[in-house]
Amino acid sequence: MDPPRAVAVLLLILLPVLAPVASGVPFVVLHGIGDECGNDGLASFTEMLGEWSGSKGYCIEIGRGAWDSWLMPLQGQANTVCKKVKKMKELIEGYNIVGLSQGNLIGRAVIEYCDGGPPVKNFISIGGPHAGTASVPLCGSGFLCILIDDLIKSEIYSDYVQAHLAPSGYLKIPTDMEDYLKGCRFLPKLNNEIPSARNTTYKERFSSLENLVLIMFEDDAVLIPRETAWFGYYPDGAFSPVLPPQETKLYTEDWIGLRTLDEAGRVKFVSVPGGHLRISRSDMKKYIVPYLTPEASSKQSIHRMLSL
Ligand SMILES: *[C@@H]1O[C@H](CO)[C@@H](O)[C@H](O)[C@H]1NC(C)=O
Repeated sequence: MDPPRAVAVLLLILLPVLAPVASGVPFVVLHGIGDECGNDGLASFTEMLGEWSGSKGYCIEIGRGAWDSWLMPLQGQANTVCKKVKKMKELIEGYNIVGLSQGNLIGRAVIEYCDGGPPVKNFISIGGPHAGTASVPLCGSGFLCILIDDLIKSEIYSDYVQAHLAPSGYLKIPTDMEDYLKGCRFLPKLNNEIPSARNTTYKERFSSLENLVLIMFEDDAVLIPRETAWFGYYPDGAFSPVLPPQETKLYTEDWIGLRTLDEAGRVKFVSVPGGHLRISRSDMKKYIVPYLTPEASSKQSIHRMLSL
């Protein structure tokens, strides 16, 4: 074989091996309450992000989708996702998370708790109730919804409701902090809020993210207050004023590493027009896609190489 031909043959053989190097870090989508991966909206959301970024996207489903998102406690939902991501060979080198609403708390639980899971690089949070919410969205008028709405109106921090209603795990009534810290099973642990139970591993893992993108909706009427999408919240004991993230104790005392990340310039606080989850295509391209592209991941590895 003459040399040019040999090179061409070699390239042909190597192409399938080289190709994956050029593609981006895969991403997973974690949906919000009452949604499921089979829904058209969510499927096209995942597809569009994949197409625009050139990276492979996977919508991760938990059990019976919409119903389990309401009825399975969030710790159980997070355990399910942890098991799934560990089994996905595609994610072994690391992946990005795109969270929608409640899905962001599952994503954060996977980052903080999932022992032995693949590394999470960028976390893009769209309308996440990170500091809690002071109101649970009403479900609707179907048979199961009537049961769910009755649960919402009963003892929210009781063991029964905590075990049967996912959003009760992040319902935070600022005027009832004592019951919240005692009875709420999910968010106080996730946010390292209980002084005697703080775990530095959660902080180490969360602050190892390359980028944390926090997208808030200017007209969000589902998250109360909407600033919870940025980790802003009410002060303990009152419904006003809303504290910006940097004035909360979670930030100043750096319970989970948010301050560490912010001081390293790795938190992007983004505000977009629209109601809850009503992100426009142009804002998706502007604020989400840049963190999912192959260029984003190669930039990161160059940074890392230089800092070694
Ligand atoms: C902190 O969390 C990690 C990860 O889940 C766990 O392995 C460790 O035992 C926890 N530490 C304490 C003191 O609870």
